[in-house]
Amino acid sequence: MLEAQLKPRSHIIEDASTLTDVVLDAMSKAPDLRLRQVMASFVRHMHDFAREVRLTEAEFELGLDFLNRIGQATNDCHNEAVLFSDIIGFSTLVCLLNNGQNGATETAAALLGPFWRMHSPQTENGGSILRSPTPGPALFAHCRVTDPEGRPLAGVEVDVWQASPVGLYENQDPDQVDMNLRGKFRTDDEGRFWFRSVKPAGYPVPTHGPAGDLLKAQKRHPFRPAHLHFLAYRPGYKTLITQVFVDDDGHLDSDVVFGVTRALVGDFAEGRGTPPAPDAGAPWYRLDYAFVMEPGEAKLPVPPIR
Ligand code: BEZ
Ligand code: FE
Repeated sequence: MLEAQLKPRSHIIEDASTLTDVVLDAMSKAPDLRLRQVMASFVRHMHDFAREVRLTEAEFELGLDFLNRIGQATNDCHNEAVLFSDIIGFSTLVCLLNNGQNGATETAAALLGPFWRMHSPQTENGGSILRSPTPGPALFAHCRVTDPEGRPLAGVEVDVWQASPVGLYENQDPDQVDMNLRGKFRTDDEGRFWFRSVKPAGYPVPTHGPAGDLLKAQKRHPFRPAHLHFLAYRPGYKTLITQVFVDDDGHLDSDVVFGVTRALVGDFAEGRGTPPAPDAGAPWYRLDYAFVMEPGEAKLPVPPIR
């Protein structure tokens, strides 16, 4: 009996029903416990998935080709892997599981998306993130960052980025200069940061790759409701990655990447009277929004693009 227990298990495959256990056994000696746990679960679910749908060989080939095309479509300016995770709701799931006290409470976090870039230009509070002529109604954003008890957090570095009102991020659009509609702010002693921009517009996610093919095959529209992105970083607090959505957008309840929660719908109020800047024109908008950062580890994500 003892001898049988010590003898390594034979990995000669008998049939489909015992294959999974053989594979799990082959992977069971990985010294990294977390790798062992994650890969064992992944293999179990992948095998169960193939059994459940009785995956055909043609479908298997199609799936492999799909994965290869995700890699081929990815470059310094575009991240198809992030986009695919986003359109199947996986990015939002991971976000909800890891924020709001590890999924226990509502969170102000949202998916990062594929367009965050490092090294946004440092900008003074009150400054503009328009770096080349950009159409659209002026937006004056007044934001505050607090801890969960409502105490202001000073010295938080906040990256802001958004698409232009034509629906393109600056790295997708030769008509915008590098870093247009991107800026890095620092909260003051009262936890405030504020800036000028243009009211964002909704836009379609890129559909030239396999993620786009999937959307078409599923008869889904590719639109995201208009939003601003924020990434707030301060040592001692969990990095807050989030988005604030424009409240009058027609796609609020059908975001192609499932990013909208009720807490993230902002109040983009149309300004009345004299605008805060003489050249703002009408209409102009004001956004007031308060962010809450949870105590935790301050870590920056890997930038999806350069
Ligand atoms: C974005 O909001 O930048 C975005 C998020 C997911 C997919 C595509 C774009
Ligand atoms: Fe976006």
